[in-house]
Amino acid sequence: MENPSKQRALRKSPFLEWCDSEGLKVATGYGIKDLRALPLEHWERLGGPAAYCHLEGSQGYVGALAGEIQPGKSLRPIRHMYEEQILILEGRGATQFWSDGDRQAVTLEWQAGSLFSPPLNVRHQHFNGSSLEPVRFVAVNNAPLMVNVYKSPDFIFNAPYDFSNRFSGQRDYFSSDFKPSDLEDKAVNFIPDVYAVPLNDHPERGVGFSRLGIHLSGNSMVGHIMAIQSGTYKKAHRHHAGAQVIVLGGKGYSLMWPPGGKFVRVDWEKGSLLVPPEGWYHHHFTASREAARHLALRRGLRGVGPTWLASVSEHEGGHMLEHEDEPPEIRAMYEAELAKEGVPFRMPPIKRAG
Ligand SMILES: [Fe+2]
Repeated sequence: MENPSKQRALRKSPFLEWCDSEGLKVATGYGIKDLRALPLEHWERLGGPAAYCHLEGSQGYVGALAGEIQPGKSLRPIRHMYEEQILILEGRGATQFWSDGDRQAVTLEWQAGSLFSPPLNVRHQHFNGSSLEPVRFVAVNNAPLMVNVYKSPDFIFNAPYDFSNRFSGQRDYFSSDFKPSDLEDKAVNFIPDVYAVPLNDHPERGVGFSRLGIHLSGNSMVGHIMAIQSGTYKKAHRHHAGAQVIVLGGKGYSLMWPPGGKFVRVDWEKGSLLVPPEGWYHHHFTASREAARHLALRRGLRGVGPTWLASVSEHEGGHMLEHEDEPPEIRAMYEAELAKEGVPFRMPPIKRAG
């Protein structure tokens, strides 16, 4: 016999029902092999080809809109009541930003590797700067969260409210100066090239691991750029839902598993996207001669849901797994993978008590 409450719980979310009603194509699964090659379909509201990546780990909070601006074209002007962080994957162009009452738009020029965030609910329009090459971008946003709460496209896309505490038409708004932030390592509103950002070493999170946490446009969402050296892997850890991990360079794979559950393996290379589900352990393994470089754009929302301490050892009450506690087959699997690729293993031996 059907269980009605189970049926209700398993229904599509309001966000996914909205995608259907919008004709916005949805991609699912644990990973996307290459966002640059993901098939897109015309999305009228955006005025160009798009697909929404709502992977397993999105869990109704955050997802990734892959979009394209065709050569010589622009997308429609848009404003929205969700936060969005945009990485340009291919091509070059510009975005104009303006609030109601602004006499002049602020223009930001960008190219492949640029990262920026349209301030919340500010009107903006993207232009392709080339008449020959398309622009491909990925826009990580919390549209699922906002649409799931409000269930009103009219409110999400037509709310006449300016968050002037975030943006008030400043000509120098999209500065690439790094400033102090209380949410992450640095606040910055424009990163011209995510490949050129210097990272800080964090050996406590993994041999050969470095990162820089970033906070853009006064958002509740945050992110970080991280690198994992060749022949090494980061310690497994667990955290909240919705962290969209975009691979900027290098090759490798991630293992993700719920406590006591089976491994899910996602292979990645430049252009891949993966999203670890909430509370799942996950490791990122670099299997290329070059370091892996990832950009993780995340839910943020400090204080919402369980408090995950992803960089604190489980021995100290946190959610980072020390190497001596990880499933033993993981290291053997990694060494076999490196041997196949002809890449040297660079991890020190695991120290075990006793
Ligand atoms: Fe993670």
